[in-house]
Amino acid sequence: MKRADFIKKFAYGGSILLTAPLILSACSGDDDEFVPEPNIPNNLTIDLSSSTYEDLGSIGGYVYEGDILIFRTGDSAYLALSKICTHQSCTVAYDHSNGNILCPCHSSRFTTAGAVINGPATSSLKKYSVQKNGDILTIS
Ligand code: FES
Repeated sequence: MKRADFIKKFAYGGSILLTAPLILSACSGDDDEFVPEPNIPNNLTIDLSSSTYEDLGSIGGYVYEGDILIFRTGDSAYLALSKICTHQSCTVAYDHSNGNILCPCHSSRFTTAGAVINGPATSSLKKYSVQKNGDILTIS
């Protein structure tokens, strides 16, 4: 190997070694928040008489439809939030016994309106409007 080639390869390898820790540190850490946009069709409808949604038949029940968590908080009260945790994208669930939303991955909690109660998540869950007309819920 010629001296000039050795110097070029050494300089190239050295720059990788020097920048690798910066790149790796930017990709690690528990504080990273990734908030993908939930996938929701326009005017999603849920037919409560369908067996697919039988879990919504009782207060405290919940289902997922696409990226949306739909849950029942009262006799005729239904809410919808993004199911994607704003910390690192795990799927959240409705915790009826505590009246809030729990992420099983790192225990972030959110109100039923989507606001953060405790982290590590720092951003709210996206909330959707739910209209009930007979057995049909329309989520937008
Ligand atoms: S992904 Fe970490 S708390 Fe939800």
